[in-house]
Amino acid sequence: MLEVCGGSAITDRGLEKDVSIAVEKDRIVDVGKSAELRKRYKFSDSIGGPEFVISPSFIDTHMHSYQAGTKGLTSDKSLLDWLKRYIWKWEAGLGKEQAKACAELSYLEMLKGGVTTFLDYTSVRHAEEAFMVADWFGMRGFIGKTMMDRNCPDGLKEDTDESLRDAERLIRRFGRDPMSRLRPVIIPRFCITSSDDLLLGCKELSERYGVMISTHAHENRDELKADRKEHGVGAIRHLNNLGLLSRKTLLAHCVHLSQVDLEILIRTRTAVSHCPGSNMALASGIADIPAMLARKIPVGLGSDVGAYCNFSMFEQMRLSVLAQKIRTGDPGALAPSAAFRMASEGGAKALGEESVIGALAAGRKADLLLLDSRTCQLSPENDLVSQIVLSGEGAIVDTVMCDGKVLVQGGEILFGDERKIVGEAREVLRSASA
Ligand code: GUN
Ligand code: FE
Repeated sequence: MLEVCGGSAITDRGLEKDVSIAVEKDRIVDVGKSAELRKRYKFSDSIGGPEFVISPSFIDTHMHSYQAGTKGLTSDKSLLDWLKRYIWKWEAGLGKEQAKACAELSYLEMLKGGVTTFLDYTSVRHAEEAFMVADWFGMRGFIGKTMMDRNCPDGLKEDTDESLRDAERLIRRFGRDPMSRLRPVIIPRFCITSSDDLLLGCKELSERYGVMISTHAHENRDELKADRKEHGVGAIRHLNNLGLLSRKTLLAHCVHLSQVDLEILIRTRTAVSHCPGSNMALASGIADIPAMLARKIPVGLGSDVGAYCNFSMFEQMRLSVLAQKIRTGDPGALAPSAAFRMASEGGAKALGEESVIGALAAGRKADLLLLDSRTCQLSPENDLVSQIVLSGEGAIVDTVMCDGKVLVQGGEILFGDERKIVGEAREVLRSASA
C-alpha cells in the first residue's frame, strides 16, 4: 500500500493538516492524520511530504483537442463566424497524424496543469487517435466524435445513419468496461448542425448503451436566434421536446437561459459545463452560474480550447470568479472555494462520476495532485484554496496521480520524453499548415 503524505490536504471534509492518504492499486482506501494512518497501515512506499498540499486533480468537462492546432490564430470572431472562418476548415482538413499530434499536445498540457479527467469533442473523424493517446498517457478520457449531418461544409457533413453507425462503433470498441479510464461520449455538435433524426438516433444510442450525451447549447445569441427561427424555441426546449435531456446529458455553455430553460435543466437533472474563458474569448456572454449552483444543477468547468487558447484549469477557476464580479457588480458573487469545487467535485457530478472521482475520500479513485507549497504562488500561506484559484498555475503542480499511477513527478512526465513528444507534434502540425 502507498502512502501519499502532505502538510495539508483539501479533502471532502475541507482543509486538513498533516494528512496521509492510503492508496491501494487505483483507489483511495483511507484519508486521515498521518500519525494515525501510519499506525493503521503497513505502507510499502511513500510519496509527498510536509512541503506539499494534496489536492484532488482537476476535471476539464469541455474541450476540443483537435482545435489545439489553431491556437493563436482565431481570436477575432464570434461563434458562428469563428466556426465557419477557422474551425470547420481546420477540422475538415485534419489527417490522422495531425489529430494524434493535437491530442498529444492537449493532453500533455492538461496533465502538467493538474487535469486527469477530460471530456474531449474530437472532429467527425479520427476519434480513435484521441482514445489511443489518453490510454498511453494514463488519463481518464471521456471522448467522442462530433456528429454533424447538416449546415456545415462538405468535408465534415455526414450521412445521418453513417454518423450514428460511426458513433456506435466507437462505443462498442471503447465502451465495454464501465470502470475503464476510457469512456465514449455521444456528441451531436449543436442543434444548428444536427437534424432531428440525428438527435433522436443519439438518444437511442445513449439509452441502449448507457453512454452520456454532450452538446453545445445556448452559447451565443445568434445561435439561439437561428434555433428559435427553425424550431420556434431555443436548443434546450428543443432537446427537451425530443427527450434528450436527462442526468446523462451535459450541455456546454448555457450562457443565455430563460427561467423556463433553467427550470427544464433542474427538472431533467441535466448538467452544465461552464466555460468562462471561451465565453469571453468569443464575446458570447457570461452565464449565471450562482443561479445554477443555488438550484443544485451539476456544474463543471471547461477550457473549451480552441475557443480559448490554453488548458489551464487554474485560469478557468480564476475567470469563473472574476466573470461573476463583472456580471453582477458584486465582488462576492462567486467564492473561490465554489470555483475549486466546480473544477473537481462539480466536474465529477457533471460527468455522473461523483462516487468515483472528484474528491479525496475513501473509495474514490486515486486521482490527485501534490502542489508545492514552496512556490511563490502558495507563499505566504493565507487561504490555500483561494490561493490555488486566484494565484495558481501549472508551476505549482509537482506530482500528478491518475488511477493510482504517478504520471508526473517533479513537474516531469514519467511515461515518455516530453521534448520528443512535443517536437514530433510540432513537426507534424507544421507540415499540416504548410
Ligand atoms: N458550437 C458548435 N461547435 C462549437 C465548437 O467547436 N466550439 C464552441 N465553443 N462552440 C461550438
Ligand atoms: Fe466547445
